[in-house]
Amino acid sequence: MNLTPREVVEELDKYIIGQAKAKRAVAIALRNRYRRSKLPKEMREEITPKNIIMRGPTGVGKTEIARRLAKLVNAPFIKIEATKYTEVGYVGRDVESMVRDLVEVAVRLVKDEQAHEMQAKVSPVVQARLVDAICDSRRAQNQSVDKTIVQNDLKEGKLEEEQIEIVVKEEAKPMIAVGGPEITLGSMFDGLLPQKRKKKHMSVARAREILTAEETDKIIDKDNVYAEAIRRTEEEGIIFIDEIDKIIGKAGGSNNQDVSREGVQRDILPIVEGCTVATKYGNVKTDFILFIASGAFHIAKIEDMIPELQGRFPIRVDLDNLTKEDFKRILSEPKNSVTKQYSSILKVDNIDLDFSDDALDEMAEMAYAENETSENIGARRLHTIMESLLEDISFNATGQHPMLKVKIDRKYVQNAFKETKKKFDLKKYIL
Ligand SMILES: Nc1ncnc2c1ncn2[C@@H]1O[C@H](COP(=O)(O)OP(=O)(O)OP(=O)(O)O)[C@@H](O)[C@H]1O
Ligand SMILES: [Mg+2]
Repeated sequence: MNLTPREVVEELDKYIIGQAKAKRAVAIALRNRYRRSKLPKEMREEITPKNIIMRGPTGVGKTEIARRLAKLVNAPFIKIEATKYTEVGYVGRDVESMVRDLVEVAVRLVKDEQAHEMQAKVSPVVQARLVDAICDSRRAQNQSVDKTIVQNDLKEGKLEEEQIEIVVKEEAKPMIAVGGPEITLGSMFDGLLPQKRKKKHMSVARAREILTAEETDKIIDKDNVYAEAIRRTEEEGIIFIDEIDKIIGKAGGSNNQDVSREGVQRDILPIVEGCTVATKYGNVKTDFILFIASGAFHIAKIEDMIPELQGRFPIRVDLDNLTKEDFKRILSEPKNSVTKQYSSILKVDNIDLDFSDDALDEMAEMAYAENETSENIGARRLHTIMESLLEDISFNATGQHPMLKVKIDRKYVQNAFKETKKKFDLKKYIL
C-alpha cells in the first residue's frame, strides 16, 4: 500500500483531531521512504530516513498518531518505552532487543500474508483431514458413519460445533531470558527433538484453525519468509520510542540517574545511526529503519540530549495543546470516540444513549476547565469525565428492561457534576 502523504493525513484525521503538523511530518517521512525505495541502489544507499521527534504535553495524541500510522501502513512497527532501559537490571543492557522484537513482528506479518495467499491450496487438505477426524470420532462412539454425508454437512457448515478428537503438535515453547537475547528453547531444538504429538478434544471450528496453521506451516518456505521479514524490517520498519525525554538527564549532570540515562542514549545511538543486529532470523541492518521519538519535554529539553542523538532526529514537530473546540470534536467525531464507545457498551444492557450537542459543549468546557485548574492531562480528561458522568447509569443498567432511550443534554451533565463542580470551584479559593 503506497498512500500519498495527503491520503495518510486523511486516514489519520478519522481518529485524531487537530495536530496537523505532526500528521504531515509522519506522512512525509513515510512517503520519503517509499520514494527512496524507487531509486537506483547506489542512490538509495546514500539516503537515510529523517527521524522525527514529537514534542508535546501529555494526552494530546502523540502515541495515538504513531499507533494509527502503524495500523494504516502494513509496515512492521513496534512501540517501546525508552524508560524501560533505565530500570534496574536493564541499564546498559540489550537495547538491541527492540530490533529483534521488530523482526518478530515482521515475521508474523509475512507469515500471515503468505498463509492468506495459500488459503486456496490448504483449505481442501484441511477439509479432508477434518472429514477423517469426524468419521473417526463418530466411529469411536459406535455411531454409523457415511463419509459423503459428513463431507456435505461439513461443507454446509453444519458441523462446526461438533466435538472431535485430533492429533496436534505440542505447542507451548518455554521462553527463557539469560541476561542477554531472549532465546526460544523450542526453536533452538527444532529438528533436534522429535515433535511431540498429542490427542486433543475440540470443536470442528477450532480444529480447522489448528489444522490450517499446521498445513500452512508445511508448505510455507520458512527461509523465504525470514528473508522477506528481514527485508521489510530493514526497509519499512518503524520503531516508536516513547518517553524519550525521560532518558535525558540534566546537561553535565553527575548523579547516578543522570549518568545512567545518558548511558541509555549512548546505547540507543548506534541503532539509530545504523548498525547490524544479529537476530535468530539473520542479521538486520538498522540504517533505514524509521524512528519516531516522543516526549513531553517538560523538564529536559531536546537540546539536553547527547548531540549525536539529536543529530539523528532532524525533524521536530510540536503538538498543540487541545482547545475546548478540539475536546468537543474528540468527544464525538473520531471513529472510536468516547461517546461512541460508551454508547455501544451500554447498548448491551439495553440503554440507548443520545448525546445532545450542548451536552458535548458542556463536557468539553468542563474538561478544559479541569485541565486548567488541576493537572493538565489532555484528552485523557475526557475519559474521566465520561466515566463519572455515566457512573450512575453504568451501575444501574441491567439489561432486564426494554431498550431505554437516555437523552444526555447540558442539564444532565450539569446535574451529574453538581457536587464535584462545587469542589472544583472551592479549589479556586483555597490557596
Ligand atoms: N488529538 C486527539 N484526537 C483524538 N483523540 C485524542 C487526541 N489526543 C489524545 N487523544 C486521546 O487521548 C488518549 C491519550 O492520547 P495519547 O496516548 O496519544 O497521549 P500522548 O500524547 O501520547 O501522551 P503521553 O505524553 O502521556 O504519552 C487516547 O485515548 C487518545 O485517543
Ligand atoms: Mg504517549
